[in-house]
Amino acid sequence: MINTNKYLALIYRSALISLMSVCSVVYAKEPIQAIQAAKNINIAKAELGKKLYFDPRLSKSGFISCNSCHNLSMGGTDNLKTSIGHKWQQGPINAPTVLNSSYNIAQFWDGRAKDLNEQAGGPIANPGEMAFTHTLVVELLKTIPGYVKEFQQVYGSDKIHIEQVTQAIAEFEKTLVTPHSRFDKWLLGDKNAINKQELAGYHLFKKSGCVACHNGVAVGGNSFQKMGVIAPYKTTSKAQGRVAVTGKEVDRMYFKVPTLRNIEMTYPYFHDGGAQTLEEAVDIMGKLQLGIHFNKEDKAKIVAFLKTLTGEQPHFALPLLPPSSSHTPAPKPFE
Ligand code: HEC
Ligand code: HEC
Repeated sequence: MINTNKYLALIYRSALISLMSVCSVVYAKEPIQAIQAAKNINIAKAELGKKLYFDPRLSKSGFISCNSCHNLSMGGTDNLKTSIGHKWQQGPINAPTVLNSSYNIAQFWDGRAKDLNEQAGGPIANPGEMAFTHTLVVELLKTIPGYVKEFQQVYGSDKIHIEQVTQAIAEFEKTLVTPHSRFDKWLLGDKNAINKQELAGYHLFKKSGCVACHNGVAVGGNSFQKMGVIAPYKTTSKAQGRVAVTGKEVDRMYFKVPTLRNIEMTYPYFHDGGAQTLEEAVDIMGKLQLGIHFNKEDKAKIVAFLKTLTGEQPHFALPLLPPSSSHTPAPKPFE
């Protein structure tokens, strides 16, 4: 059994190396590219989206906003194994970061939403998350004069549609990129931006084959890959990944490769939040994806490298939300 695994690991690694040489042509120099500042943002729309992102009135309880689970003070996550939703329900899966999510090939661990606009409608109506309905959200927003005015300014119409809500949130999310990490400074030519150990970690990250799946601007987010290539991943989570979307058996346990940007901040790791620390996550990745058992020193190098991927966090004044009116339905936190 062990021998078969080792043999598989060998084949797999040589396949990775040929893949990487193809990649190196495509990527010219490095398999990872620096994050650019967000471009072509409709500022008015993003400002409206920012308010909606922070507004708990988009939930049935009047208590849960996007920021409850994707806290922008904590790397765009909740730092919980799995999220807590309406009426304290335990969520089925770990909340991925919203930072740099505009670089994702699709949204959610299994990619079931094609983009940020499609994604944003999900949590509002999910009974286990914000537990509202799209109709009720629109009805509620219409009773808040400050919003009515702002939707009119942004969309030039008296009517509020759920698509306008999700588009505005998506526009705000496009601004949530984290440029100027120390690693990006290094990529852009500042050779002192990272130290020797961090650089050694990057070389090991490339040489070991991590870059076959974690590459591009977001160091991930651009493909679906199997969790447990060499050996199965042990978990009690019911999530089976991409098979839920495609219905194809070959997609079982395939997940969107997470971005490794700001990874230091977005613990715990994996779709089930099964790894509490980066050391643990790197250890599991080495064993299950590549058949490599890293020693302590090598793990420390890779972790040191990963921490250089923390970029400049979004910073802005907290949005002031327009007050409700006497027509605004009361929140229902316990129903
Ligand atoms: C109760 C917690 C909770 C709330 C509230 C919530 N989310 Fe999420 N979010 C999650 C979880 C959990 C996932 C992963 C679900 C999955 O993949 O099946 C997720 C996934 C996402 C993703 C996909 C990221 C990726 O890499 O695939 C985005 C983007 C996102 N949420 C944005 C939002 C926005 C915008 C709102 C508000 C409208 C919101 N979320 C509200 C928990 C939450
Ligand atoms: C075959 C593709 C593949 C390779 C090779 C690979 N990974 Fe991953 N990585 C994934 C996938 C898929 C996940 C998500 C798995 C899950 O949540 O079940 C992941 C998750 C992670 C996470 C956790 C991210 C998070 O936000 O939860 C870290 C850290 C990580 N990988 C680091 C590495 C390192 C370091 C290496 C090299 C030693 C590596 N990976 C090699 C596909 C890969």
